[in-house]
Amino acid sequence: MANVYLKPISDENRETCLQLKPREDQQRLVAPNANSLEKAEREPSTRPYGIYADDTMVGFALFDEEIYPEDGSFWICRFMIDERYQGKGYGKAGLAAVINQQKSHADCTKIRISHVPDNTVANRLYKSFGFVETGEIIGGETVLDYIV
Ligand SMILES: CC(C)(COP(=O)(O)OP(=O)(O)OC[C@H]1O[C@@H](n2cnc3c(N)ncnc32)[C@H](O)[C@@H]1OP(=O)(O)O)[C@@H](O)C(=O)NCCC(=O)NCCS
Repeated sequence: MANVYLKPISDENRETCLQLKPREDQQRLVAPNANSLEKAEREPSTRPYGIYADDTMVGFALFDEEIYPEDGSFWICRFMIDERYQGKGYGKAGLAAVINQQKSHADCTKIRISHVPDNTVANRLYKSFGFVETGEIIGGETVLDYIV
């Protein structure tokens, strides 16, 4: 399998990031990357990364690299794999890379993620990493926690 890693979004790869999108029927499950890059500018604790497979950006993640002050946790705010590259293991490998990067911060004791309630693929993927549903619904989304 390809080498899967994260690379910060910068002027050099921003345009590529903006081209990535999920399948049409998945577009209600995740905000467009343009929206996520705007959110990243508003909330500097959360950083945008391309998910790369070798030299190709195959997906995108926006996640906290500092404690989110309101709940003392690290959030994974956005996570997607482009429609052309789904079903090849990049979601799993990309999520592992995100979790490892967050865990590298000594004060990361809890990682949180949420999804649209009927997003069963994401739910199964997150649970396979040890995320557990908390019973909370935030912004209409099901919240899961991973205790580091
Ligand atoms: C969820 C998502 C990131 C998964 O990415 P991916 O690269 O396709 O995932 P992988 O190839 O690593 O597969 C991960 C698991 O999901 C399963 N899976 C992937 N696509 C699937 C599909 N369309 N239907 C059923 N299962 C699917 C795989 O079989 C695998 O399960 P396994 O470990 O039991 O074999 C991707 O589908 C996506 O970007 N979806 C749209 C945006 C989204 O929902 N983001 C999450 C928002 S919270």
